[in-house]
Amino acid sequence: MDDKLIIFDTTLRDGEQAPGIALSPDDKVAIATQLAKLKVDVIEAGFAASSPGDFESVSRIAAEIHGPVIASLARTHPDDIDRAADALKRADRKRIHVFTSTSPIHMEQMLRMSPSEVLASAKEGVARAKRYVDDVEFSPQDATRSDPDFIVEICNAAVEAGATTINIPDTVGYAMPDDFVELLTKVFTDVRGGNDDIIISTHCHNDLGMAVANSLSAIAAGARQIEGAINGIGERAGNTSTEEVIMAITTRPDHFDVEIGADTTEIFETSRLVSSLTGYPIQYNKAVVGRNAFAHESGIHQHGVLRNRETYEIMDPLAVGQKSVIVLGKHSGRAAFADALAKLGISLSDDEFTRSFGRFKELADRKGEITEEGLRAIVAVETGTDTGDWTLTSIHVSGGSNETPVASIALERNGESLTSTAEGDGMVNATFVALQDAYAIPATLADYRVSPLTSGADAMANVNVIIMVGSSTYAGQGVSTDVVEGSARAMISALNKAAFAIATEGDDS
Ligand code: KIV
Ligand code: ZN
Repeated sequence: MDDKLIIFDTTLRDGEQAPGIALSPDDKVAIATQLAKLKVDVIEAGFAASSPGDFESVSRIAAEIHGPVIASLARTHPDDIDRAADALKRADRKRIHVFTSTSPIHMEQMLRMSPSEVLASAKEGVARAKRYVDDVEFSPQDATRSDPDFIVEICNAAVEAGATTINIPDTVGYAMPDDFVELLTKVFTDVRGGNDDIIISTHCHNDLGMAVANSLSAIAAGARQIEGAINGIGERAGNTSTEEVIMAITTRPDHFDVEIGADTTEIFETSRLVSSLTGYPIQYNKAVVGRNAFAHESGIHQHGVLRNRETYEIMDPLAVGQKSVIVLGKHSGRAAFADALAKLGISLSDDEFTRSFGRFKELADRKGEITEEGLRAIVAVETGTDTGDWTLTSIHVSGGSNETPVASIALERNGESLTSTAEGDGMVNATFVALQDAYAIPATLADYRVSPLTSGADAMANVNVIIMVGSSTYAGQGVSTDVVEGSARAMISALNKAAFAIATEGDDS
């Protein structure tokens, strides 16, 4: 038995049948180029007869992509087969994939043909395809809800007419691994038999979440081609995920006695490209390519992974073009916190470490993930090396009774300076606008109060403000003999708090 497992990717045909996806020929060529880098064996580029756009995509991929076999889907109709052959004519290696339906419900309701008519059309379709190409695949659609004896009969007829790949689709995702294996074993024995030139293939849909499991189970029954789509996209709940199959075979060579030629390091880029061109997001916890597939949050897991990646990772993230991520959050422990600081080149005394870790835990508890920038801000505050705060170095506000007030302010932080000028509908308002511009924080004033601290003409004014940034509120206080300057100081103290919160917790404005 041939030990090579053929990876047949149908992202550009069945994958594109997912609701709402419409890839242009340029998009399809870009994805096909990436699939060739991934080194899949067959790219099903489209269904040439289905639309002028699909015809153009198949022809361009046939002409421009070298390496994989390029396939086009076709019904058994002569026109479909001729269109597929025409679109594929410039391919180095080409395949026509002929299908018809074989389940009672499909034959009665969709084809409105008897089993013998379906049988005859399958023979004719495959024979016509064979006039154009050597490599013909035949699929009895809805095979898992078809009479297994009829599947064997029609597949044998397809082989006699020239088909070299017999693909068994679980079109509606109905199969379970054991009954799929039973059907595949029957097809392997009664159709392929000892004929090494025939490849038995699977094409599973994911309606019950079984697509990858069903496809992989068929390997033991002799299947040597698996059809799938990147990110598992496709009709309804989608298809077998090509990348999951590739990584299952790569990760469990003890279990699967087959070899594949895929370059696993291209998986992540292929997934990213398909997601961005189709507009279909990748679920965070998606196997292999989800953003959390190699992210560790709990303290125990982080501790393990920092000691030895393999404690919690069965695949090397680099092998799929991803990287391990230690997410600093409420479940992170001292080990992960210390590791993150070390990676930033920060070393702390025991006391500073304890205080920084305490503040980190308190913030993470409220806000979830803490970013690298947040970590730096926490450490800066706890070590007193940098309060992160801006201080007022000068303020000048002009404007008489008939003039529009204009405030010019200058701020300083660790030798860095910042200036801003703005108009407003009052001197205090102009000052607030200038400060908000300087911080680039869109705040609204929720409360503003001035109260005298001393009496007399040069009384000290105490100004309190409360600002809202997104859904968070920050209070500030400022004191000065000048109300405008006191207001500026109060606003600066509130904006400093907002800036620290945004740096450590993220912007919720
Ligand atoms: O799901 C299916 O049956 C198909 C066939 C056309 C192979 O996509
Ligand atoms: Zn399908």
